[in-house]
Amino acid sequence: MTTESTNIDALLREERTYPPPPDFAREANAQPDIYRRDPDEFWETEGRERVTWFTPFEQLKQWDPPYAKWYLGGKLNVCYNCVDRHVEAGNGDKIAYHWEGEPADTRRDISYADLQREVTRFANTLRKLGVQRGTPVAIYLGMIPQLPIAMLACTRIGAPHTVVFGGFSAESLAARMNDMKCQILITQDEALRRGRPVSLKSISDEAMAAASGVETCVVVRRTGTEVAMTDGRDVFYDEAAADQSDDPASCPCEPMDAEDLLFLMYTSGTTATPKGIVHTTGGYLVGTSTTHHYIFDIKPDTVYWCAADIGWITGHSYIVYGPLCNGVTSVLYEGTPDFPDKDRWWDIVQRYGVTVLYTAPTAIRSHMKWGPEYAQRHDLSTLRVLGTVGEPINPEAWIWYRDHIGGGRIPVVDTWWQTETGQILITPLPGVTTLKPGSATKPFPGVEAAVYDEQGNEVGPGGGGYLVLTAPYPAMLRGIFNDPQRYQETYWSKYPGGVYFVGDGARIDDDGDFWLLGRVDDVMNVSGHRISTIEVESALVDHQDVAEAAVCGRADAQTGQAIVAYVSLKGGQEGTPDKLAELRDHVGRKIGKIAAPANIVFTPDLPKTRSGKIMRRLLRDVAENRSLGDTTTLADPDVVNEIKDRATAEAAKEE
Ligand code: WT7
Repeated sequence: MTTESTNIDALLREERTYPPPPDFAREANAQPDIYRRDPDEFWETEGRERVTWFTPFEQLKQWDPPYAKWYLGGKLNVCYNCVDRHVEAGNGDKIAYHWEGEPADTRRDISYADLQREVTRFANTLRKLGVQRGTPVAIYLGMIPQLPIAMLACTRIGAPHTVVFGGFSAESLAARMNDMKCQILITQDEALRRGRPVSLKSISDEAMAAASGVETCVVVRRTGTEVAMTDGRDVFYDEAAADQSDDPASCPCEPMDAEDLLFLMYTSGTTATPKGIVHTTGGYLVGTSTTHHYIFDIKPDTVYWCAADIGWITGHSYIVYGPLCNGVTSVLYEGTPDFPDKDRWWDIVQRYGVTVLYTAPTAIRSHMKWGPEYAQRHDLSTLRVLGTVGEPINPEAWIWYRDHIGGGRIPVVDTWWQTETGQILITPLPGVTTLKPGSATKPFPGVEAAVYDEQGNEVGPGGGGYLVLTAPYPAMLRGIFNDPQRYQETYWSKYPGGVYFVGDGARIDDDGDFWLLGRVDDVMNVSGHRISTIEVESALVDHQDVAEAAVCGRADAQTGQAIVAYVSLKGGQEGTPDKLAELRDHVGRKIGKIAAPANIVFTPDLPKTRSGKIMRRLLRDVAENRSLGDTTTLADPDVVNEIKDRATAEAAKEE
């Protein structure tokens, strides 16, 4: 092969296919003809049917690249759609959330009527504390009922929020509050993590010291531990709320414009400053509720569990707004999957009769590592759809999930989207799509995606390139808060003509199915061949002894880049030279010799962010013998030092 490759070479071929189970297909919300619907007709009809408008919209969309507006002229309220209208329709007794605290004996069932009362009281309390339509509110809470309640209370009165994940540092919290100019912060005394208390209040104090615009801090009591309170600034929620009405009529839902700001969600990019991704009201609610309905095949008796944290976009769209808009019963779980034991999730699935489970590949790989015996202790037969999101899923993890959690009988939907997109965009529909492990398959109805080469030509079937979105869709970001230039540069400058640059590599196969290849900066170039880290990782994880693998490139005089793999073996096995040779060989067989790692470092753990993403940047630093960059976002900073030691020892052996 002598032609210089400008496309991503997609070498890994996965041949297994799984058509939808016939009984499921017959009853499914989405039928094959859904793909024949015209995008405008689709979003127009869904916009009318899935959401209740106070004033109907007059125009479906306005596309003035890079700015889109949807459902122009429409007035609605998110809280009304997520709560009040279900009570008015006679479903007040239906459970909105089965809340399960981390201590196994703390549980609470919250009906839609309960939710309506609690949200009203919270909204009245915020108003009493000076929050009005348009006042920016920061929320720094763990997975307790008051988190969705506080978000809904904001939407009830038209106050935009930013929820900051409870695992973020004081510095990150302060940066977000300063950027949004938040005047009020809602937090809790302590959160619980693996049985240990984490003082969110003292982290908040530290953050507020660096965010002087915050005038009021509302403290929800979770553990009841005494915390320092600053006079004139801090109030306990229960005390402030004591004299407030919970009668919904005392706090009517504010009619908002379809394009009013709903929330900001900060996400990191290639620079250190996080971007405040802007999501607005009407399109976001239609986009999330519509995708939720069809992709998870929501039925009146669905018990739905998205095991993400509400502090990320996944939780906003698919724990709070999408599911509540659809009036579904959800599980809300406070804790970690391995507390008190590694079968906690499966105990929850059995006890509540969960029918839909939505989680991330990193969680699935943890369960794989622990072994299927934990799931086997429980009856998981109520499950009928499994979902994943967050990163490309290795085919072996997909198969494990399907077999050991889904009993080998139910669809697994691999859903691709981003903080920026607000809603799922590339995904199977469980009653329609023939599944392929590792493929997110097709753009959702009404969504247009393609794969482009460096020059902006569409890459044909089989070829790899850059994923792009060629048309707007309702929940898309409306900008980066206060930074139109960065918005333009990050997403819209690579290709002209209103084409959104996703930043992910992808290929389309002969059936038109999309395969996500990871972020573009995770792409390696070995001897002129661009190879995605995920493909090598999947090949490694395909080996029976491998639990997890992360791959990156390091500079190599001969080949441009050489592949370095960090591998953790199942059951805590230590690596041996024989195992190393075997793994190289295995990858060589699965993909081709060119993809066989030049180095393999065996390690018990991989460095991950608190959201579970492997930090390949740090692995690259280790591989290239550089001093480590910022490690503050790591869940466990020790892991990377351990890897560094092992890599050095490995290199010494080779010399
Ligand atoms: C990036 C967005 C959307 C909620 C969680 C992540 C990767 C996400 C998939 C998937 C392959 C995926 C992409 C994307 N990603 N889902 N199913 N298959 N990759 O949100 O933090 O904004 O990250 O996550 O690289 O660009 P996020």
